[in-house]
Amino acid sequence: MSLPPGSRLPAAAQIAQFTFRPLAYFDECLARYGDPFMVDMGPVGTYVGVVAPELIKQVFTADPDALRAGEANEILEPMVGRNSVLLLDGPRHIRQRRLLLPPLHGERMQTYSRIMADATRASVARMPSGAPFAVHTHMQEITLRVILRAVFGLDEGETMGALEARLIEFLKPPPAAMTFVPVRYLDFPLSPYRTFVRRRDAVDRVLRELLRDRRARGTDGRTDILSLLMSARDEEGQPMTDDELRDELVTMLVAGHETSATALSWTVACLLENPEVAAKLDAELDGARGDGGGLDLGALPRLEYLDAVVKESLRLRPILPDVVRRVRAPTRVAGYDVPVGANLMPCIYLAHQREESWAEPRRFRPERFVGAKIDPYAWLPFGGGVRRCVGMAFALHEMKVVLAEMWLRARLRLETPGPVKTVRRTITMAPSGGTRVVLTERRRPTRRPEATA
Ligand code: HEM
Repeated sequence: MSLPPGSRLPAAAQIAQFTFRPLAYFDECLARYGDPFMVDMGPVGTYVGVVAPELIKQVFTADPDALRAGEANEILEPMVGRNSVLLLDGPRHIRQRRLLLPPLHGERMQTYSRIMADATRASVARMPSGAPFAVHTHMQEITLRVILRAVFGLDEGETMGALEARLIEFLKPPPAAMTFVPVRYLDFPLSPYRTFVRRRDAVDRVLRELLRDRRARGTDGRTDILSLLMSARDEEGQPMTDDELRDELVTMLVAGHETSATALSWTVACLLENPEVAAKLDAELDGARGDGGGLDLGALPRLEYLDAVVKESLRLRPILPDVVRRVRAPTRVAGYDVPVGANLMPCIYLAHQREESWAEPRRFRPERFVGAKIDPYAWLPFGGGVRRCVGMAFALHEMKVVLAEMWLRARLRLETPGPVKTVRRTITMAPSGGTRVVLTERRRPTRRPEATA
């Protein structure tokens, strides 16, 4: 059998549906055509959506040469550059992953906890009382600060400040279309693409300056991501070039910042929409308050409800609705033949809404994760297989520290009663308005002076 069934709408209409109302379109495709289903976007490509854990497992465990994620991510090239781990396949991809993973795992995580908590405390102190504001703006501020420290080490100073300011500009969302329409169609004077290129060049200049500076000072004894990448040598003993380093750095900053900020904004929305869950979290966190009124970081490993809240929010509101693999060897899926050049698309959003996998899937019920073993092919907010997000452990840790620290210090309510709607923000599915809230009470003033974090 050839490709699975799918909509017969013209390609332009399918591109529009997929771009502007992806979740509803996914729901409709699954309901009408079953699992797997096809989305035919003409020049943008043919996509075969898969939802059931056994099909997702087949995609995630396939030979990475036959199903390539790097090729499928090529649309991100203008942003992250062609040497980015996101765009690589084969041995170069594995080599880069091996370099990036250690600083984002295990022991290193404890080093970041303090930075995460301090950045949160400083950000909460800047939240207005009684007037509505977007949680997302604060989350962006926190996660950018945290990822800059993790990537570049604990240096402060002018370069850090300049980089932070330019990155904020660079990461401002270009129109959603830019992530779908090949860039050559958008490159004309005064186009959003030209603005994007100007902002990208400004970031590049600071990064290259930073590389020169780090080379001059040396990387001995340093464990930040930049230093590890600079000390790495390939099989021929060659270091990474400046272009390669630049692309990997931008990848970490782009992949590790907006994603975590959006996920956190969703967690806050989910909690404020579900007061009974918020009350349970309150009860758990009350027992984990440190001397300064914020989180006792030592208590983190035993906070299992907090852990469940974060995982359940990533299930109910996954920020990326799907991941994609480009088919490079004919592949048979559920009796259909998917040809070379098409794309297989594990649908994260649909997998998380599947009634066979999750009881009452549309409800926010963190209890389902307490003491439960997670099926990695039913819960996949970080993708899977050899391409699973390298920042997963880091992001989960960060979400817990930031959420707990904020929750212990500020009482919030939604500006208007929920549910908070989903909107597309470039490639992420974000809460409308960045989760608009009102701070109703500072729970306990800090006795320590505010950190400058
Ligand atoms: C809640 C936050 C985050 C979410 C939901 C998320 C989600 C994802 C997803 C879905 C993928 C694609 C996986 C696949 O194709 O199977 C991915 C890849 C990646 N993520 Fe994340 N991510 C998050 C945070 C981070 C952070 C904090 C970092 C870095 C510090 C990071 C770095 C990366 C990188 C480098 C890749 C490419 C991996 C590869 O191609 O081998 N992400 N992420």
